[in-house]
Amino acid sequence: MKFDFTFENPTKIYFGKNSLDNLEPELKNYGKKILLAYGGGSIKKNGIYDKVIAILKKCDKEVFECSGILPNPALSKMLEGAKMVKENNIDLILAVGGGSVVDCAKGIAVSAYAEGDAFQRYWINFEDINNKTVPVASVLTMVGTGSEMNGGSVISDTVNKVKAGRVFPSFVNPKFSILNPEFTFTVSKYQMVSGVFDIMSHCMEQYFSGDDDNTSDYLIEGILKSVIHSVKIAVQDPNNYEARSNIMWCATMALNKVVGCSKEQDWEVHAIEHQLSAYTNCSHGMGLCAISMPYYRYIYKYGLPKFVRFAKEIWNVDATGKSDDEVALEGIACMEKFAKECGMITTLKELGATKEMLPDIANSCLLGGGYKKVNHEEILEILKQCYE
Ligand code: NZQ
Ligand code: ZN
Repeated sequence: MKFDFTFENPTKIYFGKNSLDNLEPELKNYGKKILLAYGGGSIKKNGIYDKVIAILKKCDKEVFECSGILPNPALSKMLEGAKMVKENNIDLILAVGGGSVVDCAKGIAVSAYAEGDAFQRYWINFEDINNKTVPVASVLTMVGTGSEMNGGSVISDTVNKVKAGRVFPSFVNPKFSILNPEFTFTVSKYQMVSGVFDIMSHCMEQYFSGDDDNTSDYLIEGILKSVIHSVKIAVQDPNNYEARSNIMWCATMALNKVVGCSKEQDWEVHAIEHQLSAYTNCSHGMGLCAISMPYYRYIYKYGLPKFVRFAKEIWNVDATGKSDDEVALEGIACMEKFAKECGMITTLKELGATKEMLPDIANSCLLGGGYKKVNHEEILEILKQCYE
């Protein structure tokens, strides 16, 4: 491992079929006023809302609701929640939902008591937080982002077409997260496989960088193998507890900082997807999937040994008699075949992008990269490759 690192993760995880039993004792650590944050209604249909409300009532909490937090959570919704927190002196924000709800809850937590334009200051200018924040906790119902155990919060300014992500210091992490794999049984196949590609992308964004012998890379390979194995089962059998629980834990482990230790990391696929979402409102994981294959075909030659390792370790590519380029490209082709077999989306057109949007999307992307630092012209070429 080449680089020094500091590792810290304060989130407590309760995992398993009975994990919601821990909500009641945890709630005793917080004051009376709870902001319940949730999405567009799935938790009302599948009964999770009723279960959580019953526990809140038992604990004699005063409940305020911030509902309708939709995928790719909007800045306007975050500000609405922030106003509620400040006006009602909320003690804890309890997010019940997927990454969008948890991200929005964190956004509310840091902006409720912020002076001025919190989004500009914290998401765009990356200022340090210098105001009071409100504790957040989560009951996770959709798997992929890792938001349940990290400080990430991705918020969309729909007016200016900017989807901005910030990894906040760990005091913004959920204090505790409740992960019951059974709560994900009602997630549609489309959302489930979208979440799975998000997990894979988090793994790859960290894996495709560096040339040192790094424990993090071996851990990432383990997570990738587990999630690829489990999603094949869950696609056939959505209520398979073992497969769903493995996918759930893979998601948490892929983005709770553990596998990023001593890694330079890439994150350009995410930077491009965020702007793709800002223009199309597409599902995060599906956007990542559509961008990844052309992106990796474009950059693989700059990190050839790692792409060869990826092909052999993850996709069991037989390298006999093949050049390194052939092996690396075969690995990416295997990933594309797998994605299509699972029902993931591999073109921008299917996600609602038009050809006219592509230059604006490309020009608005943040520039980063691992093995190759791409510029806006190169991003446009990559987007054209994944258009249809
Ligand atoms: O809104 P409801 O009705 O709850 O429906 C949701 C939503 O439509 C539905 N859903 C959730 N749990 C369900 C369910 N449907 C049936 N049964 C359940 N148990 O699923 C849909 C998608 O939910 P969403 O929360 O949007 O998905 P996801 O978890 O993929 O979150 C995506 C957001 O997280 C950001 C993305 O950019 C995107 O905005 N990310 C956050 C990260 C972080 N905090 O570290 C990192 C990621 O890279 C990502 O950028
Ligand atoms: Zn992601």
